[in-house]
Amino acid sequence: MPTWDANLYLQFTNERTQPAIDLVTRIQLEPKSIVDLGCGPGNSTEILARRWANTDLTGLDSSSAMLAQARKAHPDWHWLEADMATFQSETKFDLVFSNAAIQWVKNHADLLPKLKNLVAAGGALAIQIPAHQRSYLHQAMLEIAKNPQWVDELSKASTALSLETPQFYYDALLPANKIELWQTAYQHVMPNAEAILEWIRGTGLRPFLEALPDDDARIQFEALLLEQVRVDYPMQKDGRVLFEFNRLFMIAYL
Ligand SMILES: C[S@@+](CC[C@H](N)C(=O)[O-])C[C@H]1O[C@@H](n2cnc3c(N)ncnc32)[C@H](O)[C@@H]1O
Repeated sequence: MPTWDANLYLQFTNERTQPAIDLVTRIQLEPKSIVDLGCGPGNSTEILARRWANTDLTGLDSSSAMLAQARKAHPDWHWLEADMATFQSETKFDLVFSNAAIQWVKNHADLLPKLKNLVAAGGALAIQIPAHQRSYLHQAMLEIAKNPQWVDELSKASTALSLETPQFYYDALLPANKIELWQTAYQHVMPNAEAILEWIRGTGLRPFLEALPDDDARIQFEALLLEQVRVDYPMQKDGRVLFEFNRLFMIAYL
């Protein structure tokens, strides 16, 4: 699992947090307890706290760097360092929430039942996962990773992210009282192509950069990627670029 840089991640905090706001808005529940799985620097946890001020809220993440940032912002909230794939709790949560995190966990057929198992009777499981694998940006990273000079080092990075189909998640969430699934394509307005590269440096590019042997290779990889980003995300009339980002949302009321 690559290391996380909370400051780099928070650079696009409004854009990264909007899906959490959209997911929270759709949840029809008054939970007394919530766990935010893969809470990162606490940006999604803040959205939960804003909607449900008097709930017992726990932020869980496997990265100590991310949790340090979360604790700094809200020292009085509950923060837990743990792996969501193996996390168990005697007390169940009314709402098990996860925004932009389960893509880092392998084997969703195994993960989803575990997450459901954390939900109290009458509660809900609410998840947002980036559905970004077919994007120009992700495809460009995969193509550049096929370059013979580093193909062996990058084979693991190319499969670091997990994503299944809506049909898969629907079946995995059964049985449930009600399941809602939807997909949104955000069009993020970015100042230029470099900003798209900066965005992905904080997330999906990390496994590739960390697997490359040295800084020269990293610089070369990023230069090739930027060249392709400039082609795939052309400038608008005002010089900005639109960065399309697909996300899949699901809520299961159990
Ligand atoms: C892209 S950030 C999302 C942060 C935040 N939830 C948000 O809405 O922006 C993904 C987070 O998932 C965490 N993560 C990845 N795998 C994890 C795992 N197996 N267990 C717990 N947290 C994990 C990472 O450490 C990271 O902080």
